[in-house]
Amino acid sequence: MDLSAARHAFVTGGASGIGLGIADALARHGISVTIADINEESLDAVIGSRGSGYLGVALDVRDREAWKVAKARAETAFGSVDILVNNAGIGFNGCDVVDMDPATFDMLIAIDLIGVFNGVACFGSEMRARGGAHIVNTASVMGLISGTGGRSAYSAAKSAVVALSEGMRSEMEPHNVGVSVLCPGLVTSNLDQNTATLGGHVRENIQGKDIDHGRGTRAHGMDPATAGDQVARGIAHNLPYIITHPHYLGNIETRMDAIRASVEVTSSPS
Ligand code: NAI
Repeated sequence: MDLSAARHAFVTGGASGIGLGIADALARHGISVTIADINEESLDAVIGSRGSGYLGVALDVRDREAWKVAKARAETAFGSVDILVNNAGIGFNGCDVVDMDPATFDMLIAIDLIGVFNGVACFGSEMRARGGAHIVNTASVMGLISGTGGRSAYSAAKSAVVALSEGMRSEMEPHNVGVSVLCPGLVTSNLDQNTATLGGHVRENIQGKDIDHGRGTRAHGMDPATAGDQVARGIAHNLPYIITHPHYLGNIETRMDAIRASVEVTSSPS
């Protein structure tokens, strides 16, 4: 979409990391931004440090009633939403999936997948009726590549966000609503700390698994401001996939090679 025609963006998980990078990038295009986040302390700090083009609303993306309240507050402040960014999420927990507490699996799916659906359900039909809008759903490169141990539940949620976004894109395209799926690689953020504090049991009882991998290296990830600019460009060009790190193309091809090799075996006569 033409970013100069957009007036209002609604960004979940926008009080930190990638979401904040996206919010600031869109604000630089003159777009008013509602930041919705479960962490009210971060939300207050972010809104307090920015100007009148930002609104903060407390929202747990799992709470469908709260979505309605957040939407109403956002629209009262800045009018109808032209760009919806479903970005809030928590990270993986490092457990083999067979060892995972079912409550942990439920929580990952509830925030990382159903939270995205809840945003779509709250805003999508009105955006479709109006046209001239765009939706970005944050998945991960983990939604495009496979077979990474300790991340199965997270990858399941993120793969589903990719599939949801691909399907929605074809549903919304006739109504002039673009849909992009954001698949970040490693971006510097507070994901590991926030997963530990917000996720509760998601980071408990990990039985010595190496979940510090992210903590050690995430500080050396991409600057979220760069990811935010990539998202703004992705919206402007109506890209189906916004992939922050091109080197992951190799991993995506590895998966495709495994699919191809499997098909060769199943389709051979013996
Ligand atoms: P972050 O922790 O810095 O930001 C996530 C924000 O989401 C936080 O402000 C947090 O308070 C909020 N949040 C968490 N649960 C929420 C809920 N139930 N309702 C509302 N807000 C909630 O982490 P980051 O890295 O910026 O994560 C953003 C998205 O990017 C997530 O969906 C994550 O899975 C995804 N991602 C991040 C990568 C990275 O390397 N940082 C790589 C791939 C994907």
